[in-house]
Formats: sequence, C-alpha cells, structure tokens
Amino acid sequence: MADLDDIRDGDNFGLNTPADTSAFYLKGLNSTDWGIKNRVSRIFNRKSGRTVMLAFDHGFLMGPTSGLERIDINIAPLAEHADCLMGTRGMIRSCIPASNTKPICLRTDTGTTILTDMNHNVLIDEAEAISMNASCMAAMIAVGDADTEAITIANISRLVDIGQKYSIPVMGVTAVGKAMARDSRYFGLAARVCAENGASIVKTYYTEGFENVVAATPVPVVIAGGKKLPELEALELAYNAIQCGAAGVDMGRNVFQSEAPLAMIKAVGGVVHDNLTPKEGFELFNDLKNA
Ligand code: R5P
Repeated sequence: MADLDDIRDGDNFGLNTPADTSAFYLKGLNSTDWGIKNRVSRIFNRKSGRTVMLAFDHGFLMGPTSGLERIDINIAPLAEHADCLMGTRGMIRSCIPASNTKPICLRTDTGTTILTDMNHNVLIDEAEAISMNASCMAAMIAVGDADTEAITIANISRLVDIGQKYSIPVMGVTAVGKAMARDSRYFGLAARVCAENGASIVKTYYTEGFENVVAATPVPVVIAGGKKLPELEALELAYNAIQCGAAGVDMGRNVFQSEAPLAMIKAVGGVVHDNLTPKEGFELFNDLKNA
C-alpha cells in the first residue's frame, strides 16, 4: 500500500500548454489504435515519414535465389542500414540474430512456389507474429487471378482482423497476375483493394501514372524494387516513386544482388530519406563501393 503520510498534491498542470491534438504523421492512420501507430512508427522514420524496408522473403517462392543463398552472410550485415526487415519466420529465426532491434515485417502467407500455380496461399498462425515480436504482418493478394483472387483477399481480410485484435499493422502485397497489365490501373486497383480491406501499408510496383495509385490509396504506399536493374536505374525507380508520393521502398533484389549491397542500401536510403537525386545517390554508391 502506498504511504498515506506526506501525500503531495500535484501543482504542475501545465495550464499554459494545451494537450497535443496534432494528427499522426503517416497518412490514413490517424484513427488507428495506439499499438498500430506505435508499430508503424518503428518502421517509418519520424523525420522523413519514409522507410527503407529490406525484403528477403523471396526464398519461400523461389528457393535460394541469387543473393539469398546465405542470409546470415548476405542479409544480416545489411540489417543495421535498413529501417525494417521483411522475411519469413524460418529465415529470420535461423539467420537473423535475436539481438536484432530493427522492426520485423513478417511474411505471413505461404503455400506455393514458382514451380506450380502461385498464390494458393494460407496464413501462418498469428501466434507466430506475436512470438516473433513482429511490427507488421505481410500477405499477398492476387487481384485479377480467377483461381486465387478470392482466397488471397480472404487471407488479407482475416489478417487485418487478427492485426486489429493485437494492434499489429498489415502490409498488403500486390501480386502481379500473369494475365494482368503492369499498369497504374491494375496496381491502383490492387493497392486500393488492400486499403479497403484494412491494410495499414501497401506494397506495390512503380508504373507510369504512379501518382494516381498513391493518391487513391489512403495509407502509406511502398514500392518493391522488382528484378535487378543497373544501380542508377534502381535509384531512379526509388526517386520517381518518392516524387509520386510513395512512403519508401520494400526493396530486395536491387540491394542484395547489387555488386555492392552495403553501398546500395545506403544510397537507396539517401534517395528515400535525404531527398538525394538519382545522380547524387549513384555518386554516393560509387564512393562507398570504392572506399
Ligand atoms: C514479393 O512478393 C516479395 O514479397 C518481395 O519481397 C518483393 O517483390 C520485393 O522484392 P524485390 O525488390 O526483389 O522485388
């Protein structure tokens, strides 16, 4: 029991300092729960409002693809230069030290590989996300794929239900349907479907007309890097997406397949957080590569 004597009445109520009623710094998330805001604040830099997520979940579909043969050697050393690590439970547990303090975006859908029909995915148990201290849960939707659209949208809808229960934000990942044109109409539709189903973050691809995709998606949008490009082109991709209003990147191959991954992730960070132009970012890449 607290002491009953010497109880001091409060006398410092800050009467001249109104309570802060300013909105949350990331778009579309002002009405979400404290826990979701707290977790996305670990992912998105407070000053720039953007993020460099490092994606290395490719193996669950593609096996040990180039650059991901040894995640302990190739990815773990990059972690401190990323704002968030996106991977599967198996690779994170096996290859990323538990002392890592970077937020984890856990890939939570699984089920198929590139050798069969993709996207017949199911969700892993939400207890995994909680036990791994995930700051975000990611699942893919296959908009426009007649066989898998319904199951993947049901997946993300259920994942948001789970996320709401435990205040873990969901990142909707827009898959590229084989029959779909890779244009802003398709990605705009897919991104919007993620947001409509309650995703707090949407990952999609940069296309011409990307400003419309971002404008019509009321939560932060990040772009995947896609297939490996020359470093300058990858920096241009990130820059163009930021100019269109993207809140950062969730980039994989253009970092870990670069000839100098550490220099590349730092250069991407310069473009995303420090507003470097692609040329400035490429100069930084070359300086770091040759240092
Ligand atoms: C795609 O479903 C995977 O989630 C990758 O994480 C994503 O495509 C980002 O990687 P990359 O920049 O290599 O495209």
